[in-house]
Amino acid sequence: MIISNNNSPIGVFDSGVGGLTVLSALAALLPHEKFIYVGDTARVPYGTKSAESVQRFSLEIAGFFQQKNVKMVVVACNTASAVALGKLRQFLSVPVLGVIEPGAHAAVQSTHSQRIGIIGTQATVRSQAYERAIHRLSPGAKVFSRVCSLFVPLAEEGWLDHKVTHDVADIYLSPLLKNKIDTLVLGCTHYPLLKQTVQTAAGRVNLIDSAEETAKAVQARLKLENHLSRAQKGKSSFYSSDDPAKFAELGRQFFKGRLPKVQRIALGAS
Ligand code: DGL
Repeated sequence: MIISNNNSPIGVFDSGVGGLTVLSALAALLPHEKFIYVGDTARVPYGTKSAESVQRFSLEIAGFFQQKNVKMVVVACNTASAVALGKLRQFLSVPVLGVIEPGAHAAVQSTHSQRIGIIGTQATVRSQAYERAIHRLSPGAKVFSRVCSLFVPLAEEGWLDHKVTHDVADIYLSPLLKNKIDTLVLGCTHYPLLKQTVQTAAGRVNLIDSAEETAKAVQARLKLENHLSRAQKGKSSFYSSDDPAKFAELGRQFFKGRLPKVQRIALGAS
């Protein structure tokens, strides 16, 4: 068995391109790290699938990361973080960090009224993973969740500031606002792209971007374990389970840096 070292890469995965928002935050905060990003574009979306399917997909990707000898795995996908984190931690011998705990932590820090809203995919909301994480930190907090399925295709379409997206945001957020939340977690990889539109609909509610919070948690964990890279300059490599050219085209709006060559990865039956 090859043992990973400080200069080994960090594996980051998502159901598709959305997790590139997390990778952007990671690369900005940790410029010396090497990242391997996997987007399972052949099987996206995860948000409408059963927990069992998402667990199976996640474990297949974890097997690929094992071969690449990664020192850590970051589950950039909220859905996979919500339903597959435990299985991944059992399977892998390296630390596995998801986006739920950092987002929950930031929400608890932010709220004054103890009334927190969560928006995410069907599978994330159904799992109640955010509720559990928030209640572990603040048992008295009231959590109100809402599935916002249409945000994913709207973000992928690039309709970030479109009238339709503003209308959809108003409709989705109105029940949460009636519950007088003062903090709202953007519990899906795609939602940071719609941050401005969501903020317009949410008024003075404080938005929590799980991507940024996760990057801070990864940095803290690497420091704690003395695993920060000693390389001069980091780099990222990209894999997708469907057409790499399509991944690169769609990924451009989710990733702040340049997307170099995207390679094809065979996962499951894809
Ligand atoms: N990446 C997913 C998430 O963060 C959103 C897209 C999907 O449903 O796969 O939950």
